[in-house]
Amino acid sequence: MRFDILTIFPDIFHSYFNESILKRAREEKLIEINTHDIRKFSKDKHKKVDDIPFGGGAGMLLTPQPLYDAIMAVKEFNKGPVIYMTPQGKTFTQARAERYANKEQDLIILCGRYEGIDQRIRDTLVDEEISIGNYVLTGGELAATVLVDSISRLIPGVLGKEDSHLEDSFSKALERKKEYPHYTRPAEFRGMKVPDVLLSGHHKNIEKWRKKNLK
Ligand code: 6GU
Repeated sequence: MRFDILTIFPDIFHSYFNESILKRAREEKLIEINTHDIRKFSKDKHKKVDDIPFGGGAGMLLTPQPLYDAIMAVKEFNKGPVIYMTPQGKTFTQARAERYANKEQDLIILCGRYEGIDQRIRDTLVDEEISIGNYVLTGGELAATVLVDSISRLIPGVLGKEDSHLEDSFSKALERKKEYPHYTRPAEFRGMKVPDVLLSGHHKNIEKWRKKNLK
């Protein structure tokens, strides 16, 4: 699965996508993540990408020309939908992450900044608008990172244990409930003991205990 992220701050992504599970997944070509600097597509002599809104109002908007050229360039090699990250979009959920992962469809992810982007780009080139929750961030980059992370870990082989996401919080397998409590060694820590059943090796009883203790 291939992700192409359009942003005016590509450096934001470099640390997160170059560590741990996503780093390995990229090395193993299970996923491909490319970032594209929208500013590079600006035809303005100062590489300007923003301007004030017609009709007045607070803040700046990303202008249509660099966005248009950046999206059209990326569409050459990514045939997936263009997703615009905005607090006005549909709220991202585990169910939506599962849908994207199951389709294994490539995605083009557009990050806004400032007050947003010119409406004409939204009307003509954006296929879906996604928010990650009811609060406002300074830009779509953190939200895009959340999207890519949550979809990627559902791609077969990305998590070490092939199916360890099947029991995730909010996943279908656990009827979108939360998880059961987890314990590791030592069996006693500062006087607090791990429930005996988990040390018993009795798989049926362990399963029963976990079902009963879903939180
Ligand atoms: Cl996708 N973008 C911004 N700027 N703020 C957000 C968001 C996205 N989702 C929640 N808040």
